[in-house]
Amino acid sequence: MHKIVAREDFSDVTYLLEVEHPMLAKAAKPGQFVIVRHNEQSERIPLTIADFDRQKGTITLVIQAVGKTTRQMQKDCVAGSSLAGVVGPMGVPSHIGDVKKIVCVGGGLGVAPVFPQLRSYKEKGAYAIGIVGFRNKDLIFWEDRFRRYCDDLIICTDDGSSGVKGMVTDGLRIAFEKHPDIDEVVAIGPPVMMKSCAEITRPLKVKTMVSLNPIMVDGTGMCGGCRVRVGGEMRFGCTDGPDFDGHLVDFDELMIRLGRFRDDEKLALENWSQCNKKHD
Ligand SMILES: Cc1cc2nc3c(=O)[nH]c(=O)nc-3n(C[C@H](O)[C@H](O)[C@H](O)COP(=O)(O)OP(=O)(O)OC[C@H]3O[C@@H](n4cnc5c(N)ncnc54)[C@H](O)[C@@H]3O)c2cc1C
Ligand code: FES
Repeated sequence: MHKIVAREDFSDVTYLLEVEHPMLAKAAKPGQFVIVRHNEQSERIPLTIADFDRQKGTITLVIQAVGKTTRQMQKDCVAGSSLAGVVGPMGVPSHIGDVKKIVCVGGGLGVAPVFPQLRSYKEKGAYAIGIVGFRNKDLIFWEDRFRRYCDDLIICTDDGSSGVKGMVTDGLRIAFEKHPDIDEVVAIGPPVMMKSCAEITRPLKVKTMVSLNPIMVDGTGMCGGCRVRVGGEMRFGCTDGPDFDGHLVDFDELMIRLGRFRDDEKLALENWSQCNKKHD
């Protein structure tokens, strides 16, 4: 059992859990993820390690309530309660190269997993440009954390209520106009967003790393559920990734595969919502 020591709600669908796990906090590196079991009966779900505090012995998860398990956790996981299982760190840590100028792009929830990479690049001496995108200003989170580590921060909102009116791809174009000497881009967010970022940087020949979120079961390379096509070859998101070269990823196939269980997921959520209504 792993105690939840803090919870913060960023919006009605996005919440942060800080979880006690000293061994994991000691071993975690940017880009890695954990597999979490909410209670003994729950399915196992992969979540990125959005932050870790080796001294406190905690890891931070930022979660979007999209279906049955993440909504159930949103309802039940309060400070003082516990998670039945947290396994990890899993996945290959992000390669933090010796670059002079890096751009880290986070779209919506992607803001959380891109943060440890941004911090590592900054600590390694890079000039760090952050681009974060949200639908509107009320959904913005971790602006303070990004400001602490960014030499230049571009905030984008769909409705223009804060920063640039537009998406992170607009922010990325602005960044290239301001800084033609960008060496590398890291983009994390919905697959369509990562694909669009990779298409902007492809003609500029700027290396662009993305973090993929295929459906995972075991997270250890055994089930093959997380197959992704990269450079024409099949790779496993869990053991070869989750970071891959964005110019080589077949995003269209990834998006089709992500929708494979949509009917079952809808049914599971409907059944869970009905049960909850009866118990409330
Ligand atoms: C490496 C990795 C890191 C991730 N990090 C985060 C994170 O930091 N925060 C966060 O909120 N979400 C993260 N996700 C996605 C998260 O695992 C899913 O949102 C969650 O499993 C959905 O479960 P559900 O029962 O609430 O929703 P469901 O209704 O079961 O699914 C909703 C959608 O989530 C995706 N999904 C469902 N099951 C899985 C699964 N086993 N593995 C991957 N995706 C799935 C599918 O696209 C599905 O359509 C990550 C996924 C991966 C692979
Ligand atoms: S999740 Fe099973 S092989 Fe990757």
